Amino acid sequence: MVYLDHAASTPLRAEARDAWLAATELTGNASSVHGAGQALRRVLEDARERVAAVLGCDPIEVVFTSGGTESVNLGVKGLWWARERDRQAIVLPDGEHHATLDTVDWLAGAQGAEVRSVRLRPDGAIDLGAFVDALPGAAVATALVANNEVGSVSDVAAMASASADAGVPLHLDAVGAIAHVALDFGDLRGSGRKSGGLVALSVAGHKVGAPVGTGALVVSRHARMGAVLHGGGQQRGLRSGTPDVAGAAALAVALELTARERDEEARRLRTLADRLGTGIRAAIPQATLLGAEEHRLPGHVHVLFPDALGETLLFLLDHSGVHVSTGSACQAGIAEPSHVVLALGYGDREARSVLRITLGRSSSGADVDAFLDALPDAYRRAAASSARAASRS
Ligand SMILES: Cc1ncc(COP(=O)(O)O)c(C=O)c1O
Repeated sequence: MVYLDHAASTPLRAEARDAWLAATELTGNASSVHGAGQALRRVLEDARERVAAVLGCDPIEVVFTSGGTESVNLGVKGLWWARERDRQAIVLPDGEHHATLDTVDWLAGAQGAEVRSVRLRPDGAIDLGAFVDALPGAAVATALVANNEVGSVSDVAAMASASADAGVPLHLDAVGAIAHVALDFGDLRGSGRKSGGLVALSVAGHKVGAPVGTGALVVSRHARMGAVLHGGGQQRGLRSGTPDVAGAAALAVALELTARERDEEARRLRTLADRLGTGIRAAIPQATLLGAEEHRLPGHVHVLFPDALGETLLFLLDHSGVHVSTGSACQAGIAEPSHVVLALGYGDREARSVLRITLGRSSSGADVDAFLDALPDAYRRAAASSARAASRS
């Protein structure tokens, strides 16, 4: 199997699995006061400290969740619910992940939030000037650290600082970025700025080699935030429910290993991704690589093939044992046009003609070669299929 879809989910790390299994040997509930509960509590709090050390926050600021979608929902809804009452607007860059888009859509439709859109630059990063212009008087701002389709990394330090100056609380979706981009919550939050600036940051375990269903939201101790889940009041009342101790332990191990390997891995992946990009252009001269050239996720390649549908290419490559993605959402198994590619100014046809190829820990030069071997035939067949469909219509 040639797995080139690490942005969707990256393989479980053996060390994370071991930590998960060890914690599942313990019996009880981390909230119980008896010895069995307290043994679990120690594992949970140890995990919280280790996650905090990697993300640069205080342990009490780590709220364990079931993954990226939950973290983003809590971050965005929680901040909006606790907003200052005369503020109604959510600053929402174009091209955000659906976890954010659909959350903000729901807040707009069901709760009266006003949405202030922010354009992307042609290279897929968030337009900083437009972001800053949208801030005054807003209730909440949210932003991807790195676009999960085209891989461009935005200037989140500048966005955090501008949000602090504007007194607007900022949530960052670092789910797709944290494997490759070092982020220090404390540095980004700055000092002495309490009501605005970076107050929440989402991460998910399965993007760093922890099990699916693990994740965390960092919530500043100074943030005002409502809860999505109500119940036993665990985790500062922000996330009621018996905590998943095994998941937290695995997340801590995976994040630590990710942080340790990050720089070297980024260099290795960048070299492989460059080779992949060059090979794609050599094989299919009509192909265009999208996304920023410099500030991008190192293992991320996003390609527009103007004469072939991404979804046809995906199926043909899959048939050759090469697993990639179109990057965009699916409805009943059919890829929708990419809202990110549309936001970059391309048309519907182009937005259906993209592939996202993402490398990660297990990727090697042999994977790149396998992709490049399989591509020409898959492209020829996908382009022929598109040409046939066009002549019929
Ligand atoms: C940028 C981003 N945000 C949020 C999510 C949702 O995370 P999860 O799948 O853990 O719910 C994803 C998942 O692909 C993502 O890439």
